[in-house]
Amino acid sequence: MHYIAYFSSFFPKSSMEELSREFKNIKPIASAVNVLVFEADDRDISRIVSGSGMIFLYRLLKLQCHGTIDENAYLDSAAESITALKLPKKKLRIECFNINSRRGYSAKDIEVSTGLRLESSGYTPDLKTPEILAYTIIINMKWYSGYVDYNEVQFIDPYRHYKALSSGISRAEMKLLQTLDTFGIKAVRGLAIDLGAAPGGWSYLLAKRGMKVIAIDRGKLNYERINKLGESVLIVEGAKPSKADINLFDIVHISRGFEHADLGNVSADMLTDDMNISPKETAAAVLKFSKYLRRDGHAIITIKCTTRNIKAHIKRAQDLLSGEFAVYCAKVLPSNRQEAMLLAVKK
Ligand SMILES: C[S@@+](CC[C@H](N)C(=O)[O-])C[C@H]1O[C@@H](n2cnc3c(N)ncnc32)[C@H](O)[C@@H]1O
Repeated sequence: MHYIAYFSSFFPKSSMEELSREFKNIKPIASAVNVLVFEADDRDISRIVSGSGMIFLYRLLKLQCHGTIDENAYLDSAAESITALKLPKKKLRIECFNINSRRGYSAKDIEVSTGLRLESSGYTPDLKTPEILAYTIIINMKWYSGYVDYNEVQFIDPYRHYKALSSGISRAEMKLLQTLDTFGIKAVRGLAIDLGAAPGGWSYLLAKRGMKVIAIDRGKLNYERINKLGESVLIVEGAKPSKADINLFDIVHISRGFEHADLGNVSADMLTDDMNISPKETAAAVLKFSKYLRRDGHAIITIKCTTRNIKAHIKRAQDLLSGEFAVYCAKVLPSNRQEAMLLAVKK
């Protein structure tokens, strides 16, 4: 069986170790910086990516066909990657993930032209309510394709997908989008405390999803853009926001370091921390603010990797938090650089 694995480009060695723990006798076929096409024994892969201990593996898909791109008939051979699949006659969405394709067309060109061809042979491309996702991955002029139930996988290329959803306030916003999706946190409501909030990508996203946000950072948020996008912000110079301010504004920004913030008797539903400080300091900050988080409230924490050994940093943060939090899982997501995301739940 052929597979494609998609993992962190910052930890390729650890990603390979993780993959090799699951699959014996991996035979690499093609690779790019964060992608490996390989052959291995047939496995039921549905639970592998979400399995405990899978920190680096982001996506794992089966491939059903492969072939070579003909440079003189690029779009035709890219379309063949999908037509060669024995697709059921269901509503489908096509996605092309184009890696290192030198003189090729864009992924979108391939999707449009393939969709038109399929349509003329009786298939129904449907971007809004698809039932299956048919995908082709082009690496160094070779194509690999497959399809999957849309309920299981909605997209292949996370950069493209999340970029389209992002407000552009900060690159960090994509990290939180990926985290909420990956950890399956769908309903966010109530009050969030966002530590290390500037320039405001996370605070904006949480506010947009309906939460009230207390944003803490001595740096400025992008007030103008946040306002333009429809969320109101109040800047508070003091340590404590008033209840009235929290009720009135979408985001209340306490413009000081977390060490100098005192939130009184607020009760938050979520605590987020994206501060660029060491994992030990981050854990200490989360513990300091855990008194404001209600029982069962989520803490979403970025663990910055101060050395290459991210697993040791994750472990240290987990140990430090374990008195007050049950740590659910750790994951290096596509938008993480030298860092991982931790999901913890207040005990
Ligand atoms: C990666 S940025 C956060 C980006 C943010 N999540 C977003 O989406 O725009 C890290 C932030 O942590 C803040 N930070 C670092 N130390 C801090 C501290 N002691 N108290 C509050 N914020 C701090 C920095 O000022 C910086 O703005």
